Amino acid sequence: MLALLDFRVRQRDFLLEITKAITAQLDLTEVLRRVLYASLAMLSGQVGLVALPDSTARVAGVVGLCAAAGVGIVPHGGNTSYCGGATPHEGGHEIVLSLARMNRVREVDAANFSITVEAGCLLAGVQSAAAEVDRYFPLSLGSEGSCQVGGNLSTNAGGLNALRYGVARELALGLEVVLADGRVLDGLTSLRKDNTGYDLRDLFIGAEGTLGVITAASLKLFPRPRTIETSFLAVPGLGAAVSLLARLRAATGDLVTSFEYLPRSAVEMATRHIDGVADPLAGPHDAYVLCEVSTAREDPALRVLLEGELAGAMEDGLVLDAVFAESLAQRDALWRLRESVPEAQRMEGASIKHDVSVPVAALPRFADDAAAAVLAIVPGGRMVAYGHVGDGNLHFNVSVPAGGDSREFLAKAPAIHEAVHGIVRHHRGSISAEHGIGRLKRHALARSKGAVALEVMRAIKRALDPRGIMNPGKVLPEPGEY
Ligand code: MLT
Ligand code: ZN
Repeated sequence: MLALLDFRVRQRDFLLEITKAITAQLDLTEVLRRVLYASLAMLSGQVGLVALPDSTARVAGVVGLCAAAGVGIVPHGGNTSYCGGATPHEGGHEIVLSLARMNRVREVDAANFSITVEAGCLLAGVQSAAAEVDRYFPLSLGSEGSCQVGGNLSTNAGGLNALRYGVARELALGLEVVLADGRVLDGLTSLRKDNTGYDLRDLFIGAEGTLGVITAASLKLFPRPRTIETSFLAVPGLGAAVSLLARLRAATGDLVTSFEYLPRSAVEMATRHIDGVADPLAGPHDAYVLCEVSTAREDPALRVLLEGELAGAMEDGLVLDAVFAESLAQRDALWRLRESVPEAQRMEGASIKHDVSVPVAALPRFADDAAAAVLAIVPGGRMVAYGHVGDGNLHFNVSVPAGGDSREFLAKAPAIHEAVHGIVRHHRGSISAEHGIGRLKRHALARSKGAVALEVMRAIKRALDPRGIMNPGKVLPEPGEY
């Protein structure tokens, strides 16, 4: 069950990716592309051992051995996170526990609108298993072909449909978790109602493996959307986008499923760097929204309703141009434009990223203030603030000034983070809306959570993992660090 390896983590990741690709029959080209991008990541570490257990009992066995020996465990899903939550430290003193072989769908219950899957199932696999019984699993992310559902839950992933269906936490019904001493907490219920004491499930969601290893989950399913209207809209800016969202939510009876904001800079980068991506509108505009409205009914009237609303919004200056996807291929092309932005920004050169959320109405003010603060630190920095405006989550990224020196630019990252996070705090927002804390954002967490919240988190950690073997050095700052 255990393989003794002594690679640099990037080589180890490569091995894991290839193993997963073979077991899951993935497209190897896609896997290699992802590994290439992973190799550009800023974090690395070492491990002496990678465990690839294929059952909950075997996960429990590995964790029990590590608990007895006091060895740190780094749970590992699809390796798609941004904050280093699954990256071990230097020194090789930890083991990586990959969930890749725990990839079975245990049960699909169409009548209960639920599915029970193991943690190593690919997110796309869960979506397909639901579709096979005419149901819908709505969690959707750019990396859904390679991220695993255990990682989605451990990081409380958000993605493209959170506005309508909620984030991973809201989609979870029950969890099976291997605790830090090797015992199995069987909370694999698929009940909607269960008022029997403390909610243990939610402790492990968003904990990034620091309290235990999620090995399986019961998840909510929904009726499959039968009418989907996807449109790409030019808007004057973020303020107009926010007003338009409220208007469309009201007009459609809350059928807006996705509402993704893209500034011109993001569209230019995507069309410049990604093959086959094109601007669907005739002329350039400052900002855009990719809007998807859907219903489980066959509803030809939905398009008519939307066209009427958008015509009104145009008269009011909230929309400047619009195009609807008229086929699946056109819909895919619009989503490809949106989903290729992170990759395009990487290809554009050095960038400094923030994954923040504020109340939706505060987004325009936040973005203006944050841009001004960044430009005061890096004159010429290029704002690429895009994302899930429908749920208040903006990826407020900054690219190196055109022709600027990357090293000089990246040296300013701490000052830029501090300035942007300060503005987030001012709006009572979050410094990590959907990417988690991992290794990278522990200090930012220490500065943005209150002392009482940190103490409660620390008490939970001590209670569930007294020896500190579960994903050491992740999420929680050390006491001296705050
Ligand atoms: C996205 O929404 O595209 C991602 O969460 C952000 C990213 O990949 O940088
Ligand atoms: Zn995102």
